[in-house]
Amino acid sequence: MVSVSIRPQRFSHEIISETHEFVLNLTTVAMAKAVDWCGVKSGRDVDKFEGAHLTPFSSELVSAPGIAESPVNMECRVKKVVSLGSHDMFIAEILAVHVSQELVDKRGKLRLEDAGLLAYSHGEYYALGKRLGFFGYSVKKR
Ligand SMILES: Cc1cc2nc3c(=O)[nH]c(=O)nc-3n(C[C@H](O)[C@H](O)[C@H](O)COP(=O)(O)O)c2cc1C
Repeated sequence: MVSVSIRPQRFSHEIISETHEFVLNLTTVAMAKAVDWCGVKSGRDVDKFEGAHLTPFSSELVSAPGIAESPVNMECRVKKVVSLGSHDMFIAEILAVHVSQELVDKRGKLRLEDAGLLAYSHGEYYALGKRLGFFGYSVKKR
């Protein structure tokens, strides 16, 4: 499951409310400018794929397209909407996940650390930082 919180005035809010579907695309350092541009323009006024030089690809289970340049795409269907005041929270089920094949090693393990993921914190963009540990490392025996 995943959730996104979107202001009611956004075009994205209108589309997701109508279709109950969306695709969540993880973004990379290489995509930072395109991401920012998509975050300040509205799909009401521009074609964001064209304007940000991004490539749409057809999803398998939902009507919304994914972004080919994203290393991970998650096809989502809305299960519940919670109105929070400024934003509505769309709680959704992930129906399908697409992963760039170059991130999958010979043993079939996803090497997400090689994707160059983009992070957004307090209004600024960063390359995701260095690895500090792994799930459960605080209790693992040496
Ligand atoms: C990095 C970033 C994150 C954003 N996150 C959100 C968010 O979580 N919810 C939201 O309603 N708007 C968010 N915005 C603002 C929308 O992306 C922006 O208003 C955009 O123009 C909406 O496009 P749309 O009208 O096509 O939906 C964010 C913008 C940026 C740059």
